[in-house]
Amino acid sequence: MLTNTFPQDFIFGGATAAYQVEGETRSYGKGKVAWDDYLAEQGRFSPEPACDFYHRYDSDLALCEQFGMNGIRVSIAWSRIFPEGSGEPNPEGVAFYHNLFASCRAHGVEPFVTLHHFDSPLAIYANGDFLNRANIDAFEAYARFCFKEYADDVRHWFTFNEIAAATMNRYVEGTWPLGKKVSLHECLQAQHNMMVAHARAVCAFKDGGYAGEIGIVHALEYKYPYDPESPADIEAARNDDVLQNRLLLDATFRGDYAPGTRAIIDHLCASSQGTFEIAEHDLEIMRRAAMLNDCLGINYYQSRFLKAYEGESDLHHNGTGDKGTGRWRVAGVGERAVRPGVPTTDWDWIIYPKGLFDLMMDITLRYPNYKKFYITENGMGRKDRIENGVIDDTERIDYVKDHLRWILRAIEIGINVEGYFMWSLQDQFSWTNGYSKRYGFFYVDFESQQRIPKASAYWFKRVSETRRLEV
Ligand code: BG6
Repeated sequence: MLTNTFPQDFIFGGATAAYQVEGETRSYGKGKVAWDDYLAEQGRFSPEPACDFYHRYDSDLALCEQFGMNGIRVSIAWSRIFPEGSGEPNPEGVAFYHNLFASCRAHGVEPFVTLHHFDSPLAIYANGDFLNRANIDAFEAYARFCFKEYADDVRHWFTFNEIAAATMNRYVEGTWPLGKKVSLHECLQAQHNMMVAHARAVCAFKDGGYAGEIGIVHALEYKYPYDPESPADIEAARNDDVLQNRLLLDATFRGDYAPGTRAIIDHLCASSQGTFEIAEHDLEIMRRAAMLNDCLGINYYQSRFLKAYEGESDLHHNGTGDKGTGRWRVAGVGERAVRPGVPTTDWDWIIYPKGLFDLMMDITLRYPNYKKFYITENGMGRKDRIENGVIDDTERIDYVKDHLRWILRAIEIGINVEGYFMWSLQDQFSWTNGYSKRYGFFYVDFESQQRIPKASAYWFKRVSETRRLEV
């Protein structure tokens, strides 16, 4: 019989990211990020004031406390600390995060802090971002600064959020600033370089003897062949697995690339006329970090079914919520398809909770040195509406419940999962979808900044307070 009870010290929380919640993107000494001009040029939506977290964090943390949450995921905006990416720190930015962490403590909500959530300072981003190895040094210096400055405030650190999304949206799909379509070698090279930056930060944290734990957050998707009997579909699934998951997981847990992974990396790079470079000493530091790394944050929204694809790359990002408009066919990789009967959201995200369990099993089997998982994001984007004063998001409750069931199944067979953060705590600004794609426990009226708990918030409160999932 499946257990329905979570361990005593399990963390239940909501997730946020600096740029998506804070607002005040160009004030209090904060430096620019590439998104500022990109969004202004597009004119579709503004990151201001998002949910005004810069001024409202204390009342949002009070809501967390009131709704039974004992954890929150936040990120530090690098350009609030170092407006130009390096140099002199900005005292207002430094103080802001001290105040935020103090408020977390006051409300009994444990902060899980990410150093980089898609928001490299413009000076870094425009200067090649992580394709420029000098920026690895800049990230390490920023990480060292934060470890020291917030040593008394923070016990749970993540270096990067979703290297896969950051690199694929920029170098494969071209939907992010300075976007470029289908440059697989740049995508994979940036992934490797960011993993070197991660490794340097992990070693700096451990060498500094700081209290607490450190890991990284990956956006993982299980890649199933559309037709499990088709060798070509199996190959497409392997390609997409390396592009999204495997390079990053090998780097995280092995500190190098398994021969099979390396062969597919080389194939993918060659298919966009590029090569993959590993600099001297990279693997040394990566291997060391692989042993020191404490935890993996898994952001899980969906899995994929891959078909073989022989044509030219053909991509369309569904950033509007018009169901059925998304396409992802990449030369050298394959085509992402939906198996009949598998549900999808209005943004064409495949709903497949079992994929989360399959991913955790896969990691546990392949990388015996994994220590623990946190599910750092999982959630459902919806066009939530207030009707008669309430927001009925039963669909979201079902989505979360189904994922929590698979997490309990994993815990039951001995996989170490220590926390769950729903994306998102409150409705937030979405990078390519603006404000119409809502994810929060708390509905945000972006005009008045009023918060209204959705049905899912009341439901989650029961789960976190009882530590039980009613089945
Ligand atoms: C994750 C990110 O990829 O998914 C978040 O860490 C993001 O920053 C979330 O907002 C949902 O994606 P989207 O595109 O629907 O906002």
